[in-house]
Amino acid sequence: MASIGSVTRSLISKTILNPGRIAVVHNTGFIKFYSAAPNYENIKIDVVGSKKNVGLIQLNRPKALNALCKPLIEEVGKAVKDFDADDKIAGIILTGNEKAFAAGADIKEMQNNTYSGCQKTGFLAEWEIITNCGKPLIAAVNGFALGGGCELAMLCDIIYAGENAKFGQPEIAIGTIPGAGGTQRLPRYVGKSKAMEIVLTGNFFTAQEAEKMGLVSKVFPVDKLLEETIKLAEKIGTHSPLIVKMAKQAVNQAFETTLKSGLLYEKSLFYGTFATDDRKEGMTAFVEKRPPNFKNE
Ligand code: CAA
Repeated sequence: MASIGSVTRSLISKTILNPGRIAVVHNTGFIKFYSAAPNYENIKIDVVGSKKNVGLIQLNRPKALNALCKPLIEEVGKAVKDFDADDKIAGIILTGNEKAFAAGADIKEMQNNTYSGCQKTGFLAEWEIITNCGKPLIAAVNGFALGGGCELAMLCDIIYAGENAKFGQPEIAIGTIPGAGGTQRLPRYVGKSKAMEIVLTGNFFTAQEAEKMGLVSKVFPVDKLLEETIKLAEKIGTHSPLIVKMAKQAVNQAFETTLKSGLLYEKSLFYGTFATDDRKEGMTAFVEKRPPNFKNE
């Protein structure tokens, strides 16, 4: 198995990590992460990939297993929003470290919450901004993805996992229930019986089980996960960003509506592609047997 150092060197030599932006070297336990954004306290961000068109957000509270305190989620929201607004970025990866993607909402932060306080402040409302991202959001999960950590992965569009990933919704064991989408998204991904079992027992499940259930697309060796996730984002980045956005909207609609209205929504987006230059370019390039040159128009 490759060492963390050799993985880092290999990523840099393949320009998957962007050496031009190296400012500070931090050893996070997963990869030596090269951050160009020292302003964040709970996350690190970078732009990676051979075309430097993939936004990378690493949760960075390793001592608390990346527990999702409010400032951390606010920083993730800001980073996602900034990458979403950046025309050079094709997709965004959310990751943690080798031990934890995130072990849930911060229990110490919410220990003394009250019902009225939650209502008044709209507890967890800051998560919403992440769900508004128009670009593909991909979770690369190593280690624990529990409670809010599992929910954060589930609000991404695609989940890739390392072989050591452990998922679960253990809120029941601390006297509460999932509160960032777990009771709603999990059954949509894995069906009622499995979701009910996971939520009511609080049991953890492995990456392999998550893949079998359809929660995770693919499982990789721990030290290959980030590299493979970057490759996925790069592949998506070869297509028209405009059409990728429309495709994401169409698939997401399947989770929001009936089949009939979803099909109508799909049809109107499909027809909509015919109003774009990129649709014309894509089909013309196919007929002329050349690669397309998409303009995001
Ligand atoms: N919130 C706050 N701190 C956490 C945390 C969390 N969710 N998970 C772990 N930590 C902290 C621990 O308190 C500990 O800190 P100290 O060193 O200061 O004591 C540190 O991270 C390391 O954790 P452990 O010593 O417990 O590590 P471990 O390897 O023995 O166990 C674990 C790992 C099984 C993940 C265990 O930490 C655990 O069960 N964590 C809580 C998981 C959980 O219940 N998550 C759901 C939270 S509620 C929620 O998420 C609500 C929602 O839907 C939004």
